[in-house]
Amino acid sequence: MKVFKSALLLHSELANQRKMGRSIGFVPTMGALHEGHLALVERAREGNDTVVCSIFVNPRQFNDAQDLQAYPRSIEDDMEKLMAAQVDILFLPEYADVYGADDVHETIDLNGLDHVLEGRQRPGHFQGVAQVVKRFFEQVQPNRAYFGQKDFQQTVVIRRLLNLHFPDIQLVVCPIIRESNGLAMSSRNERLSTDGRNKAGFIFHTLLRLRERCHFKSLQESLEISRDYLQSKKGVTLEYLEAVDGLTMKTVQDLEDASNIVAVVVVQFEGVRLLDNIILKNAAGN
Ligand code: PAF
Repeated sequence: MKVFKSALLLHSELANQRKMGRSIGFVPTMGALHEGHLALVERAREGNDTVVCSIFVNPRQFNDAQDLQAYPRSIEDDMEKLMAAQVDILFLPEYADVYGADDVHETIDLNGLDHVLEGRQRPGHFQGVAQVVKRFFEQVQPNRAYFGQKDFQQTVVIRRLLNLHFPDIQLVVCPIIRESNGLAMSSRNERLSTDGRNKAGFIFHTLLRLRERCHFKSLQESLEISRDYLQSKKGVTLEYLEAVDGLTMKTVQDLEDASNIVAVVVVQFEGVRLLDNIILKNAAGN
């Protein structure tokens, strides 16, 4: 695995690869890698000649300084995992390598996606994500980019970014990887106690029951039952549970309102924000 800290050197290495006709798959991360990330790498490995992974904890996407400071960092462990997963190139930039010495903040028109749900809870978060991913796409110029369904709204933001600026890059959204109790894998799970981590499977089980229920009760009634259940659980604060159009993130009232519908949920448990989602309906009619 070749490691690049400088965007310039990375750029020239990738220009050579492209000249040789090699396709490039890109997996951006903030480190603290788990099986969810490695599944993205595996998909990138299957679909491309060269796999590039980045590790950069992007300050611009944290609206809370404490959250940024508490974000887990485990670079040596991460590098071992990436080598074992046969990543070809690791990009490990510093802030100035990503944003340039002039540190320009370019506002990206996210068509309101940055002000709803996760965007409303974390002002500035999706602007920060879009800005860093835009810089990475300019630097790496991949054929395909890999993101996890776990951060569902982020995938919608990235699709918007691609439509605006990078129509030739293919977005590959990979399924959520879960722990054995159903908890969606996340770097933040490390902040849960062992007991909390064992119990946190209730989030996915609530989503599964919601998906079942909304086929024999109305969507709104089903959501209300699931919200009441989550709110009744000890130690749980429900931030939101909504059914949204999977292309626009607009809330839907009924399963007939859109062809792709996703239930998105965020709860706080042991002081950790846990995100999850489940597809209630997709364009294929499943
Ligand atoms: O999903 C993440 O880890 C981050 O939001 C990303 C896409 C690497 C941008 O910093």
